[in-house]
Amino acid sequence: MNLELKLIINLSYYHVADDVPETDSEIAVVIDVLRATTTISWALKNGADSIQVFSDLDLLKDTASNWDDDKRIMLAERGGKTMNGFDLGNSPLSVTKEIVEGKRLFMSTTNGTKSLKKVQNVEYLFAMSLPNRKSVAERIMSLNKENVLILGSGWEGSYSLEDSLAAGALASYIIENSNSYVDISNDELQASLALWNVWKNNILECLKTATHGKRLTSLGDYEDDFKCCSQLDCLDIVPAQLERGVIRAS
Ligand code: MLT
Repeated sequence: MNLELKLIINLSYYHVADDVPETDSEIAVVIDVLRATTTISWALKNGADSIQVFSDLDLLKDTASNWDDDKRIMLAERGGKTMNGFDLGNSPLSVTKEIVEGKRLFMSTTNGTKSLKKVQNVEYLFAMSLPNRKSVAERIMSLNKENVLILGSGWEGSYSLEDSLAAGALASYIIENSNSYVDISNDELQASLALWNVWKNNILECLKTATHGKRLTSLGDYEDDFKCCSQLDCLDIVPAQLERGVIRAS
């Protein structure tokens, strides 16, 4: 009889911040495929020092004003559009090395930063996008923790297709690669796995089909954003909250 004891990883997924129950999860992973966590991942890849997230735009400006002008960038997006009075909106294409290297990004977006704030008390907090799915999954597995909460960002409190797709992508990678027994702990994640199996060979199309994809398309030419956000496993960056509200490469 094989008496080898296997570790368990319980994975659960919540569509939006308001759905998250009181949690004793040791790990939280926040996803905002279109586009906050993709922007965060690329900014860190391109050498940004850190990203501090805010819900409140006035607080963002006040906090940023205490930093040297040449060491800060203020990013704000509402409804998919860049806010007046800020340096950048929320596009992964805008956070180039030339613009972000060595700087702190002060960032507020419609939904993504709300989800990051919601789980900021969890011991390990990571931001995941499709480009860094594998890196985040490998980090989660290396920590040997039992409870992992995955949180999407949705749109103003409602479900989003693309975040659920990425939750399924993460769960699928862990199921295929972990030595632990993986328990899919809620129906939201079962559904996300099914979604991943349907769309995994056509991620770009899934993003464009999503309501927020259609919203972006109605606002202008976001073709390159879609391409960037739909890339899989090409970034080795693990964005982690290393002090409250501040995310760095780890
Ligand atoms: C959000 O936080 O809702 C977004 O990332 C929206 C966007 O800029 O596409």
